[in-house]
Amino acid sequence: MSERESHHPIDPQFLQRWSPRAFTDERLDEATLLTFLEAARWAPSGFNAQPWRFVYALRGTPGFANILATLSPTNQSWAQRAAALVTVISQQRWTPPGQDTPKLNGMHAFDTGAASAYMKLQASLSGWHAHTVGGFDREALGRNLAVPEDFVVQVVVALGRRGDRSLLPEALQAREQPSTRLPLASLAAADRFGFS
Ligand SMILES: Cc1cc2nc3c(=O)[nH]c(=O)nc-3n(C[C@H](O)[C@H](O)[C@H](O)COP(=O)(O)O)c2cc1C
Repeated sequence: MSERESHHPIDPQFLQRWSPRAFTDERLDEATLLTFLEAARWAPSGFNAQPWRFVYALRGTPGFANILATLSPTNQSWAQRAAALVTVISQQRWTPPGQDTPKLNGMHAFDTGAASAYMKLQASLSGWHAHTVGGFDREALGRNLAVPEDFVVQVVVALGRRGDRSLLPEALQAREQPSTRLPLASLAAADRFGFS
């Protein structure tokens, strides 16, 4: 996996986390899933508003089918094997302490992304894999889950134990490998926005 090398020393967990699509049929128990969500709980957020919400479902339950049905056909083709699906939702408004009127929280999506990343890193540290899905019908999923107004359905995260690529439809097998990244110099610059 030479392409997935860090150019500066970092904890190996960051390179080891990646998003496979092939999952074994191993089940994930709710107690273990809650450890992933517990990690998410400790993410930082603007005002400590904690705008993230998670609706989870284990494979074989009606809740799982409810989420799966809203995914695009390609995403369904592999995510149906996931052990759990977690819908990541953010709350747009936040009521500052001591006030009555909710205000728009411009950081709700940013903070919820951080919480979601914490969940995925904990899953990876525990020997499971997570794959984020943005390709789904947001309106339909919001309806299926009875998500109230003021909340935005952001992504679905599929969780499972990594399986062999032969479990995948043929078209997806070639993509089943860890991806690389842009060089750090294209992403981080000292003092000013020095990117071309
Ligand atoms: C917000 C978001 C949406 C994504 N949507 C999809 C998706 O709909 N289908 C899919 O197969 N992968 C999806 N991915 C997975 C990305 O393609 C993957 O994370 C990226 O290529 C980096 O690879 P890695 O996670 O293995 O490091 C999504 C990832 C993110 C963060």
